[in-house]
Amino acid sequence: MSRVVEVTLRAIVDSRGSPTVEAEVTDADGHRGRAGAPSGASTGTHEVLALPEGGVPAALDRFRTDVRPALLGRELSDAPGWDAALHRADGDDEFRRIGGGVATALSIAAAIARARAAGVPLWRSWLRPGLDGSGRPMIVGNCLNGGRHAIGGPEFQEYHAISSAPNPADAVRAAIAVHRRVGEALTEKFPKLALGRGDEGGWVAPLGSLEALELLSQACEAVRDETHLPVHPGLDLAASEFFSDGQYRYRDRNLDPDGQLAFLVELVDKFGLKYMEDPFEEEAFDSFAAFTKAVGGKLLVVGDDLYTTGLARLERGIAEKSTNSVLIKVNQVGTLTDTFATVDRARAAGWSTIASHRSGDLPEGWLSHFAIGTGARGLKCGLLGGERVAKLNELLRLAAPAQTSP
Ligand code: PGA
Ligand code: ZN
Repeated sequence: MSRVVEVTLRAIVDSRGSPTVEAEVTDADGHRGRAGAPSGASTGTHEVLALPEGGVPAALDRFRTDVRPALLGRELSDAPGWDAALHRADGDDEFRRIGGGVATALSIAAAIARARAAGVPLWRSWLRPGLDGSGRPMIVGNCLNGGRHAIGGPEFQEYHAISSAPNPADAVRAAIAVHRRVGEALTEKFPKLALGRGDEGGWVAPLGSLEALELLSQACEAVRDETHLPVHPGLDLAASEFFSDGQYRYRDRNLDPDGQLAFLVELVDKFGLKYMEDPFEEEAFDSFAAFTKAVGGKLLVVGDDLYTTGLARLERGIAEKSTNSVLIKVNQVGTLTDTFATVDRARAAGWSTIASHRSGDLPEGWLSHFAIGTGARGLKCGLLGGERVAKLNELLRLAAPAQTSP
């Protein structure tokens, strides 16, 4: 038992160079935790606001006047009490006053200090009931970008290597091999083009949505043949981003919801997809349910913008059998306590959870502890770039103790 004696917040930048905040929490025995707030670009309508109106300066002001006084002196070991104090300091369910990013950073920084004070690894302090931390997530690794993360690329936002080898070292190796293979294929296809990478480290190229999927699926097949490791294509469509006036809008055609359903069902079989996130716009619980009924036995159907990690929307999804999996992003709800409520409900329903980064992220590794502690089926954290590699490497550290050279 130890009281919190210092809480600070400072302005930093995320992987996109956008302003964000970082929190530090210290207890009377000097145990300290530090964490920053990641941020999304294709944010869901129902997620909490990252920063209050006025951005980081307004967040720092409000922290000084309303948040810090409410946290100083609190008992560090009381995690729900800490998160409840954040809600009270805000006074609004959506963290509009203090900022969801501020709440997220403070919730996680306190959790890190708490685990240090308890002398246990972070993943263990986050263990959900009935778990022992022995589960290993598959890697959901971004290889090709489109949508909001790569203007000029395909409509679908993310093309993933779904790498499910039981040993994380193999899973990471296979996913990165697919990323590399995709890069080689693009160089061959566009010899004169200067290739770039998107916000989450996947390649960006002027490809149509299907063309990109063909390329990804060939790369997965080549890596499977070469390594004999299980790695298959997956997608995050972020379909709200190309849906308007009742139509899913592609470069060459528009599809109504039934057309989109038929099109996607066909893709699942044609490309052996193992993962599909947000295949429909964020209010289309019914389209999700029809899709899950048709192909949910063959792949993970994942709701991200659909649920935005919120318990009430997840309840609706469970009642309507909208998906079989839920993406989990702490900063969509602002505290670990709220996030765990959603994780626990999903697990009770027999659904898979995927622990996820944001497109604007930080070189921190706590997400991998979160994935292990919550028994996540997948870790979605990208493959290249310091902020992505920080999570992969933390997973590798957790999975295999360091070897000393002879
Ligand atoms: P975001 O995108 O972090 O920009 O919201 C990630 C996703 O849609 O999964
Ligand atoms: Zn998504």
